[in-house]
Amino acid sequence: MRKASMNIEFFKARRRRLAQLTPGCALVLPAWPEQYRNADMHYRYRCESNLYYMTGFDEPECVLIFRPGKNPETVMFVREKNQERETWDGFRYGLQGAKQVFGFDQTYSIQDFEKLAPELLKGCEKVYYTLGRNREFDHIMSRVLIAINGGWRPRFSLGLPPVEDANSLVGELRIRKTEEEVESMRKAAVISAEAHIEMMKATKPGVTERALHGVFLKSIMDRGADTEAYFGILASGNNATTLHYRFNEDTLEAGQLILADCGAEYMYYSGDITRTWPVNGRYSAPQKRIYEKILKVQKDCIAKVKPGVPHMDLQRFTTQALTEILLEEGLVRGTVDEVIRSGAQIKYYPHGVSHLLGLDTHDSGALQIKGESRAMESGWCLTIEPGLYFPENDPNVPAELRGIGIRIEDDVLVTADGCEVMTKGVPKEIDEVEALIGANFR
Ligand code: GLY
Ligand code: MN
Ligand code: MN
Repeated sequence: MRKASMNIEFFKARRRRLAQLTPGCALVLPAWPEQYRNADMHYRYRCESNLYYMTGFDEPECVLIFRPGKNPETVMFVREKNQERETWDGFRYGLQGAKQVFGFDQTYSIQDFEKLAPELLKGCEKVYYTLGRNREFDHIMSRVLIAINGGWRPRFSLGLPPVEDANSLVGELRIRKTEEEVESMRKAAVISAEAHIEMMKATKPGVTERALHGVFLKSIMDRGADTEAYFGILASGNNATTLHYRFNEDTLEAGQLILADCGAEYMYYSGDITRTWPVNGRYSAPQKRIYEKILKVQKDCIAKVKPGVPHMDLQRFTTQALTEILLEEGLVRGTVDEVIRSGAQIKYYPHGVSHLLGLDTHDSGALQIKGESRAMESGWCLTIEPGLYFPENDPNVPAELRGIGIRIEDDVLVTADGCEVMTKGVPKEIDEVEALIGANFR
């Protein structure tokens, strides 16, 4: 048997909420394909987040057809029990087990999906299915839809149900975290924060980026995380000016900063934290000056998070504030408005300040509707992550700033009148950070 996940009633409640939004329609959610290398070498399977959100079922090779108001309403196609395969790969629920444990109305073998799906989807007003994410399954779905249509020849056509994006539909539920989700989000945040502290303590010149990554992985797994939420970024010195640096192959040197962007995955929920600290335990004067300015922008940005404020205001605010820093430091010229109009600041602040966080690190949910930024709502989980990056080979960058990349990232939960910083456990004030660095070696 497997370890229990969240209470099954939570998943049933989500299906009830979705049913209210889409009577007469059907939702089709396939699992991700499994990953193999060299034919039979297995890697950890990570369930597809929408499918998990609606069912709690995290096995590979399954598909949900959810038909609000119809009987059976929740139909799952799953792998059959198979003693030989279970000897190799481990427990699987099978048709009976999945039905009983997860409360599905009907289960069928995944082998029968293509045969049975047309009949289950026939007569639905609309089919919610996300095209383009799972090419292999797109082909299966196109055959299913053609079968519903009675073939492809127009004169025999029975009429196709319109297909709409399932990810947007489920994203609209996922964007507001429920109390039980917040519990997992907080746990992912706390575990990630504690692991950042462990990395700070394990930092000294001569330690490798890879070894710090190892410290992070050990720390989160010691604390019950399943794995990391995304491949950790351990970027020393100029490597920090590569936004998604992931070679993690250099050795830390005195005088450099190390930027660590690492998050734990706990019960499938993500943490996502970035801290930037000095390898030898003391920020140099220019590093300190830039760090303090970015830290102020980050804290001011967090203070703006509350229900009713357009999410885009966070980007507008940080663009303005970070451009002021670029002007003060002589990296761009003109007035703030002129610089922003020309886009010159993008070279040094090339990314968004905030994304949704949840079952995916870049979580589902629309931050814009018809091109208009959406107002934040209580229950949203977001990152706040301003940063500036000054590549060492950019002649426009003053010499003392070359090779400096600084990002400070926290995870926040929007509350009724502001936000809760779920990752506050990891310090970001200069004196607190400096006090931790190298503590393991003292
Ligand atoms: N770790 C990826 C991000 O911060 O968005
Ligand atoms: Mn992030
Ligand atoms: Mn991050």
